[in-house]
Amino acid sequence: MKTLTQSPTDPAFVQDPYPFYAAARAQGQLHHWQDFGMAAAFGHSAVHMLLRDRRFGREVPEELRKPGPAHLAPFLAAEAHSMLEAEPPRHTRLRRLVLRAFTSRAIAALEPGLRELCHQLIDAFPQQPFDLLDAYCTQVPVITICRLLGVPEAMAPQLLDWSHRMVAMYQAARTEETEHAAAQAAQAFADFLRGYIDERRSDPRDDLITRLIAAEEEGDTLSTDELVGTCILLLNAGHEATVHSLGNGVKTMLQQGWQPEWLAPGGIDRLVEEILRYDPPLHMFTRYAYEEAEVFGHTFQRGDKVALLLAAANRDPSALEDADRFDPARPAKVNKSFGGGLHFCVGAPLARLEMQIALPVLFARCPDLALAAAPEYSNTYHFHGLTRLLAARN
Ligand code: HEM
Repeated sequence: MKTLTQSPTDPAFVQDPYPFYAAARAQGQLHHWQDFGMAAAFGHSAVHMLLRDRRFGREVPEELRKPGPAHLAPFLAAEAHSMLEAEPPRHTRLRRLVLRAFTSRAIAALEPGLRELCHQLIDAFPQQPFDLLDAYCTQVPVITICRLLGVPEAMAPQLLDWSHRMVAMYQAARTEETEHAAAQAAQAFADFLRGYIDERRSDPRDDLITRLIAAEEEGDTLSTDELVGTCILLLNAGHEATVHSLGNGVKTMLQQGWQPEWLAPGGIDRLVEEILRYDPPLHMFTRYAYEEAEVFGHTFQRGDKVALLLAAANRDPSALEDADRFDPARPAKVNKSFGGGLHFCVGAPLARLEMQIALPVLFARCPDLALAAAPEYSNTYHFHGLTRLLAARN
């Protein structure tokens, strides 16, 4: 295994990580990424296999678990009940109960309101250049996830603040200040949800929180701590990545030009998949090895970590011809942006629906939309999203 060096906070890498991924892939599927101190899979085959290989998983192996620092307790308490940090049998149980409530019917029911929301947001666009990331790409997912869970829409700015402070924990630029801010946010978020879940217990509504409370399988239900952890996970994961999928997609379309047929009923599915493949919002997830395992010539020992570079796999020329080209006319084939295997994104159908509605409405209403300033990515690796998207209607 070769050793590669690349700071994840280097400004050139933050703006365009793809040349580094290409250089890594050209040398093999798997390398040691020195800056993260772990093996990293860059090739499509390695990422695809590792996502499905049950000898690897997200939950920390028992002998490596340490009590976290006291100042992080509220943050760690939320993570402790998150399906994203669990493996079977805990993961199977949590995911099954959540999927009882998070049904395709519940998602489809959001569609008319979602379309109306997109139009209302566009009605409020100013004439002068404005930040489309804030005015549209953020509002669509955050208001939609509030509606799905049944949290008042007026809470959206508060949810964004808690969520931003919590997900900063997964960024390479994390500091001690980040930790304190995340712990405070997790505490306030959990306090709010505890009260809110209590209200829904005594006053059930037609929303996801009520359905999560009622979700039952063979007499088993979610505990209050699990409900709080699950709602935090759904509310945070439910907008952070979708916001930047929309932002990155609109940026690419405005920079490279777009065709009306991409946004038509026969083309929109492909456009959404191509946006997610070409410039995804989440680039890297990690796994622990649970036993000695040989993968692409490297032997992992139990407890070793490996990074899966979803964004590098999406552009592997051995999996997809001309993978560096943005081509929404191509069949949607290679897309690791929602992961794969046991932890495959629970929200993928919702994220796809939001994008399939928000993009055609935006470009139909604002066909003359143009960039008003060069967009920049924020220094938040492994997140890959814009700081803002200044646009104007000409
Ligand atoms: C375009 C938007 C989105 C992207 C790119 C995305 C990406 C991902 C990825 C890559 C994973 C797997 C991580 C891993 O394997 O380590 C994941 C898991 C998850 N996502 Fe998403 N996501 C998006 C939207 C959403 C939405 C809208 C929701 C909820 C409403 C959501 C909820 C979740 C949950 C609960 C998990 C954990 C699943 C599990 O551990 O079994 N995501 N997402």
